[in-house]
Amino acid sequence: MTNYFKWKSDFLTGNLKVDGQHQYLFKLANHLQESEVSECRTVIMELYRYTRVHFSAEEELMSLSKYPLLKDHIKLHENLITILNDLSSQFEETTESRDDLVAFFGNWIVNHILNEDLRFANFIE
Ligand SMILES: [Fe+2]
Ligand SMILES: [Fe+2]
Repeated sequence: MTNYFKWKSDFLTGNLKVDGQHQYLFKLANHLQESEVSECRTVIMELYRYTRVHFSAEEELMSLSKYPLLKDHIKLHENLITILNDLSSQFEETTESRDDLVAFFGNWIVNHILNEDLRFANFIE
């Protein structure tokens, strides 16, 4: 079991909705890590769906706050969606494929929250 998905208070942005969504993404990633390979596709689809829900909510919030880095932030979100699309379409029902996806998503989300989402949190503070 990797420890990419240990939730830490360092990830809190102070926005209840955003923080709740981030926590749910962690929960889904942990669920994927623990899933049988035959069940992974369903979990990956939910991870993909919910990531999009979260990105839309976050972008709406940024737009309402007139966040100057909104366009750049949207590009980062789109980039992840593209990669997730590729990874899920190439997904093979093996533990290696599952673990690669979990590791990629874990690293991405942790870096993105710490470097980008918290930048926005500081902006609206
Ligand atoms: Fe974001
Ligand atoms: Fe986020």
